[in-house]
Amino acid sequence: MIPVLDSTEENLGLAASALAKGGLVAFPTETVYGLGANALEARALALIFDVKRRPYFDPLIIHIADRKGLELICQSVDSRAEKLMERFWPGPLTLVLPKTDRVPDLATSGLPTVAVRMPAHSVALALIKKTGFPLAAPSANPFGRLSPTTALHVQGQFETGIEMILDGGPCGVGVESTILSLAGNAPILLRAGGVSRENLEAVIGPISLAESLPQRPQAPGQLPGHYAPRTLLYLRDGASNHKIPRENSTSRQGYLAFQKAPVSGSYAAVEILSPRGDLREAAARLFACLHRLDKQGLDWILAEVVPNEGLGAAIMDRLQKAAAGSQSSPLGNGHSNS
Ligand code: TXA
Ligand code: MG
Repeated sequence: MIPVLDSTEENLGLAASALAKGGLVAFPTETVYGLGANALEARALALIFDVKRRPYFDPLIIHIADRKGLELICQSVDSRAEKLMERFWPGPLTLVLPKTDRVPDLATSGLPTVAVRMPAHSVALALIKKTGFPLAAPSANPFGRLSPTTALHVQGQFETGIEMILDGGPCGVGVESTILSLAGNAPILLRAGGVSRENLEAVIGPISLAESLPQRPQAPGQLPGHYAPRTLLYLRDGASNHKIPRENSTSRQGYLAFQKAPVSGSYAAVEILSPRGDLREAAARLFACLHRLDKQGLDWILAEVVPNEGLGAAIMDRLQKAAAGSQSSPLGNGHSNS
């Protein structure tokens, strides 16, 4: 089993030396746990793709702890980026900016741009400072599967390939960072996440949604099926209700509710995202609820929709992709749930 270590000064030292040798270390951020490697070393980056079974066309986010890190990997930082960093860093916002030659092509899938963020987590920041180089880190889960918001979620999804998992408790935000491209003239939202589009627009004005543009921008990695539990998941959104299997006396259904447990139907397991109806709380609990439902040996999970505003946009994005991923993946078959 991959060791889970408390984030003591001593263990941060062990983690930093494992990273310096080109190894992988899973570490906490405010969004989800990341699978970190030296962002400047192609060989260490290759290990991330190997261990996650991630396709090379899906570029990585690079984590920095200070201005020096930013200048090392970004060629230019315009005034929009400055304003956003001032307001939202450290925090769950990733900016896509022109890259320097120091960043290996493997990190960016050959793109001339790099995705960069400064995480708002003391363990992540301390680790980056101790290693002395930026850390490339995707979410610490096998490609396409549920993101981890606790150290145990990471441990449960990998057998080998990771030196250690630094424990920093459950992640406070619970959904990945918002990804904003500032590579062109118009800012483009590539992924909904921990900072809402509304809050970004309050700082830099209108932002286009990648999917609404006539020519889709380069947003590799934003695949329709992702964040998927092993159990089949169906979204109760009206449009896809016809797909939901009919329950019978032997079916074991799970239910993911936004605020209240369902009043009708029979469910073997129910999780409620936020009894107060608070989207922040719902986001923070989303992946933990899905991990728990996924362990119950259910035939399928029904998930309610949440209001598509603020952090709700990030939650809906994850649920839609989880539904697509679970219904298309060969693993997404509740009847042979393992
Ligand atoms: O919250 C997060 O962002 C977490 C934590 C660990 O920081 N990380 C994370 O990484 O979500 P990951 O690998 O799951 O997301 C990386 C995504 C890629 O799938 C791609 O869509 C986008 O970032 N990306 C990375 N580099 C890019 C680039 N140069 N241009 C456009 N999109 C890029
Ligand atoms: Mg991910």
